Amino acid sequence: MSPTTTTTTYTPPPLPPPFTNSPALLLAQGAEGRLYKTNFLTSSTLAALKVRPSKPYRHPILDSRLTRQRILQEARCLVKLSREDVPVPGLLALDVECDVVDNNNDSGGSSNWAAWLLMEWVEGIVVRQVVDRWEKWVKAREKKAVVVDDADGNSGDDAEIKRSQRELCALLRRIGAVVGAMHKAGIVHGDLTTSNLMLRPVGGATADAEAVAVPTSTSIAQDAELQILEHPSLEGEIVLIDFGLAAQSIQDEDRAVDLYVLERAFGSSHPRTERFFEEVLKGYAVSYKGANVVLKRLEQVRLRGRKRSMIG
Ligand SMILES: Nc1ncnc2c1ncn2[C@@H]1O[C@H](COP(=O)(O)OP(=O)(O)O)[C@@H](O)[C@H]1O
Ligand SMILES: [Mg+2]
Repeated sequence: MSPTTTTTTYTPPPLPPPFTNSPALLLAQGAEGRLYKTNFLTSSTLAALKVRPSKPYRHPILDSRLTRQRILQEARCLVKLSREDVPVPGLLALDVECDVVDNNNDSGGSSNWAAWLLMEWVEGIVVRQVVDRWEKWVKAREKKAVVVDDADGNSGDDAEIKRSQRELCALLRRIGAVVGAMHKAGIVHGDLTTSNLMLRPVGGATADAEAVAVPTSTSIAQDAELQILEHPSLEGEIVLIDFGLAAQSIQDEDRAVDLYVLERAFGSSHPRTERFFEEVLKGYAVSYKGANVVLKRLEQVRLRGRKRSMIG
């Protein structure tokens, strides 16, 4: 018996109903799903749509169960955190198993399915981008400070960098406070990276507070390219997103692992900011009653992590 083997290439299904004909902009395509910017009820109400398509290569029952569980878990966490006033996008709607007719399929429009979750649109950018921009800005400023110091021995840039560092530290403390609020509400995130934290400008203001260049008597022609680097705004509210791996837990260990993952994320993605990570922990320490026990636990988690990386 030799069944004919046909190689099928995986084509993602179209948007699930009721979004089939909605304007939707694909923003991110991850291993687990896709994220669209769309609208909800009125054309001016923006929303983020997360679609988890079925995976044809997985056993259908297992696939359905896993996808359903993940989307429900994400939704539950969002609802719980919103209720506790932790800044997360509000949940608008969800469907754990809707049919999507895939006309591309050569079996004549066979039925496929997807699970989706619709949430409030968060203005702003992810913290990863904010910190990347900040690091570029500092690098450019430091370069400029060296040039100015060489010329006349004093520079306004130094003070400007210090002021900016203070702003960054305040941002890091706000991150710690929000993570603490989430833990206090009984949720651990499971994937705390700077791509899963957003900075929402307050009152929609995105104006850069410190874009004004410090005038110096020295004309620095070679600095033209540096001046296009504006100081990124570090103002705004931290919003937690992406609860695809989140869970309900009040265990110190789970909480400490959340912090450890975030610490490692800073270490690997933001080399110039890593030395300020302590500020995140300072913000965390004062955010709820059990925080100090978790910080103690973090020391053990770090040791384990170090041992593991030594063994390889
Ligand atoms: N509610 C939202 N509002 C605005 N942008 C969002 C929202 N949720 C996610 N995004 C954007 O989409 C990206 C991917 O979403 P995320 O939930 O992190 O999914 P995943 O990392 O699993 O692909 C985020 O990094 C962020 O830029
Ligand atoms: Mg993410």
